Amino acid sequence: MGAQVHGTQEFNKGKRAELKFSEEAMKTVQKIISNYPEGKHKSALLPVLHVAQAEFGGWLSPEVMDYVASVLNIKPIEVFEVASFYTMYNLKPVGKCVLEVCQTSSCWLNGAEDIVKYIEKKLGIKVGETTKDGMFTLKVAECLGSCGTAPMLQCGASYHENLTFEKVDQLINDYKTAGQRRNYTDLDYKNTL
Ligand code: FES
Repeated sequence: MGAQVHGTQEFNKGKRAELKFSEEAMKTVQKIISNYPEGKHKSALLPVLHVAQAEFGGWLSPEVMDYVASVLNIKPIEVFEVASFYTMYNLKPVGKCVLEVCQTSSCWLNGAEDIVKYIEKKLGIKVGETTKDGMFTLKVAECLGSCGTAPMLQCGASYHENLTFEKVDQLINDYKTAGQRRNYTDLDYKNTL
């Protein structure tokens, strides 16, 4: 049976009612949902949250989480439980480029701490903060599965590996010049569904 996107669950009025996926995002959401049997749409929550985060400014506000709940026909609390568990979902506004520096063993042994300090100094922010121009947020992350190329950081769908201070300068410069928001869904996301 073809998957249906639900929009039936009651969610608060006002601002929340204005939220809507773009046509393209909704197509992606429908494709994700179609991977799961009818009645099991909650299983689509993680990838749908990625689409929502990319679609609504890089973070998941309570209104966005409620909207996702309505689309998947699940309870808002079920969305919040998942969104608040995983570090890749932002529950407060972030910069266009979220720099996530891996701080686990291999990266730590290869200078992740120095990389974090270097970025903090360069951008004038601490871990968890966003630059005044709204361009960068700095975060630390647990192992991102690229231990052989430590130290590394992730920004949206891109990995930056074997980091040096020069490479950090370069990537920050490139992101600043491009001035675009980076999302986990940037890289051939639809082809991986
Ligand atoms: S320890 Fe950094 S990617 Fe695995």
